[in-house]
Amino acid sequence: MIRQAAREFAQNELKPGVIERDEYQKFPTEQVKKLAELGFMGMMVDPKYNGSGLDSISYVLVMEELSKIDASTSVVVSVNNSLVCYGLEKYGTEAQKEKYLKPLASGEKLGAFCLSEPEAGSDATSQSTTAKDMGDHYLLNGVKNWITNGNSASVYLVIARTDLERGHRGTNALILERGMEGFTIGNKENKLGIRGSDTHSLMFTDVKVPKENRIGEEGFGFSFAMKTLEGGRIGIAAQALGIASGAYELALQYSKERKAFGKQIADHQAIQFKLADIATEIEAARLLCFKAAWLKDQGLPYAKASSMAKLYASQVAMKTTVEAVQIHGGYGYVKEYHVERLMRDAKITQIYEGTSEIQKIVISRQVLK
Ligand code: CAA
Repeated sequence: MIRQAAREFAQNELKPGVIERDEYQKFPTEQVKKLAELGFMGMMVDPKYNGSGLDSISYVLVMEELSKIDASTSVVVSVNNSLVCYGLEKYGTEAQKEKYLKPLASGEKLGAFCLSEPEAGSDATSQSTTAKDMGDHYLLNGVKNWITNGNSASVYLVIARTDLERGHRGTNALILERGMEGFTIGNKENKLGIRGSDTHSLMFTDVKVPKENRIGEEGFGFSFAMKTLEGGRIGIAAQALGIASGAYELALQYSKERKAFGKQIADHQAIQFKLADIATEIEAARLLCFKAAWLKDQGLPYAKASSMAKLYASQVAMKTTVEAVQIHGGYGYVKEYHVERLMRDAKITQIYEGTSEIQKIVISRQVLK
């Protein structure tokens, strides 16, 4: 039922404006409101904090269906659910949950997760943003880069260094509100793909953040980011899966309609073998996503599984979308046929929430442990 609801929503609400939103970089404001009404903005949050109380498997199903049509919208869903809501529910205080989690889980507000910096992407321990301890508050200074929901969020989880001597162990995760004095939103990035999503740099100049806005113990910030990303990577893996399966479904349909050399192109073995390969790889990616989600739902360790799911599903997304464009031939290169957008959208899944190379670091460390 959840998959069906997400599928219908994607067809009826996302598909109609998706080409325009991509072209003009329009944020899906109305669509996100409707997703909130369906309970998809705080899917795994306890109903007592306005969430839907669903499991991670349901989350994967929803992410796949939305991403088949519109990955720009699904990344908004993913960041709000698995980076912001999850982080607050798991590690926040009761007061933080009341004040911030409730409106985020209901979709009344949108959240952003702010770890990356101009000089700290993959090398996330090299944070330059500082949060100086001033007694009852922190004084925040620095710049964050490539922040999803950068200008549409109202709650921002920001990672910053307090104790410079202690490296990543001196890092804190702070909750910021839009409009705090000294907090400015930089230019919107003009991106290759997921162009409907809203990616900005953020600047902090002497922003006063009350101590009660720190998540977890002093020095917990880097672990908070890593723990939260473990689950975030399931969301992005499922997004990559959806981009792949969306492109595959379009290519499959097209191959039965298009004729060349006196027969449907699906009757040519060159096309059949492409379809066989991508169908198999998508199935494998889906099972990796389910496995990671299932482990999380069981309360078992899932860092390796989520990195494996993201590494593999993003490879499959890239390969499948390139093949889908190829199967469509000249039409595939034209916006109306959707596959060129899916190909551009696929690339980011190999970059954000840890590049493919970072996933290999996480996996190999677990394997060698
Ligand atoms: N859980 C808890 N703690 C963890 C952890 C985990 N999964 N992984 C690492 N840590 C801890 C380590 O234990 C260590 O702490 P101690 O020294 O106290 O033991 C600390 O973090 C540093 O870890 P490492 O020594 O392993 O550091 P490293 O520099 O060798 O590697 C890394 C760390 C795994 C490469 C990490 O930097 C990383 O994941 N980089 C990628 C960052 C990333 O994914 N960014 C995504 C941005 S968010 C985004 O994209 C959202 C969006 O908009 C869509």
